[in-house]
Amino acid sequence: MKKRIFSGAQPTGKLHIGNYLGALKNWVALQDDYDALYCIVNLHSITLPQNPDELRRNTLDLARVYLAAGLDPSRSIIFVQSDVPQHAELAWVLSCITRLGELERMTQFKDKGKGNTERVGVGLLTYPVLMAADILLYQTDLVPVGQDQKQHLELCRDIAERFNRDFGETFRIPDPYIPKAGASIKSLLDPERKMSKSDENANGSIFLTDDADTILKKFKRAVTDSGTAITFDESRPAINNLLTIYQLVTDKTAEECVVHFEGKGYGQFKPELAEAVIEFLRPFQEKVQHFDDEHVTNILKEGAEKARAIAAVTLQDVYSRMGITR
Ligand code: AMP
Ligand code: TRP
Repeated sequence: MKKRIFSGAQPTGKLHIGNYLGALKNWVALQDDYDALYCIVNLHSITLPQNPDELRRNTLDLARVYLAAGLDPSRSIIFVQSDVPQHAELAWVLSCITRLGELERMTQFKDKGKGNTERVGVGLLTYPVLMAADILLYQTDLVPVGQDQKQHLELCRDIAERFNRDFGETFRIPDPYIPKAGASIKSLLDPERKMSKSDENANGSIFLTDDADTILKKFKRAVTDSGTAITFDESRPAINNLLTIYQLVTDKTAEECVVHFEGKGYGQFKPELAEAVIEFLRPFQEKVQHFDDEHVTNILKEGAEKARAIAAVTLQDVYSRMGITR
């Protein structure tokens, strides 16, 4: 039996190269060796206000991105979260065994809620419980995510262990899979902050749909640190980030990258980095237009059917252990 992986992304805003290198790239690689489920988590998106038409569009667009990046519906189950009602049902159950203090400690909640707890939506607080439900419904072994999700995954493990202790072995305890390089790609304008969909300045991110000109311009504007050597150096976060991007899009080793740029400066490095990213994104950008709505909708429908079959077994077990069903 293959081990199972589960991961998901929100259909909110445009995906950037951080999403690709921190998550999607690994999802594609892992689908060969694992029994994989990849979800479009639209119920997570509504923790912040969304325009309904845009959300509908973004949901299909994200499915297109998954397919163009190389997720293969004949090997992986690709589906939309709201098509499988068990996610919301299990989230309710888990919210009853999650502690308020645990949720209030989540850094993403603190960041997004900006300390304004009087007015902030409750969904922003309980978001990690829904995420735990996503994962636990499928008896997941491994969850490939970027560094920003590590804390949510630890909470998921705590919740699962608590349930198992109180009601008997029910859930498999999932492990995070966080890549060594690329788990936290930084903003091009501020290497202390992660590249983020919600960044108001588009020049900090390379979007998967950016054209060649835009990519070159953004890298030329990218901030640099003092010093001129093109090397990996913990104390120089800007060059570290740019060189990591170069390494991941070219599939070179860190050493090969450093040797390649020895004796060269930013004047040569930046255009070469831009070119490498443009080439990396080219096949993806060509493919992404080829999936029409009907084709994508059919794939999602099939995915949802397969996912529901697995999810229903787990939820039934949970309900029966708790005395909800006889
Ligand atoms: P999201 O679009 O926020 O749902 O994130 C989708 C995936 O991309 C998650 O696994 C995140 O951990 C990952 N991710 C988001 N931002 C970055 C980043 N700047 N660097 C690396 N991975 C990221
Ligand atoms: N919270 C994740 C993010 O913002 C998305 C997500 C929801 C997820 N459910 C998940 C990721 C389950 C992995 C597994 O990136």
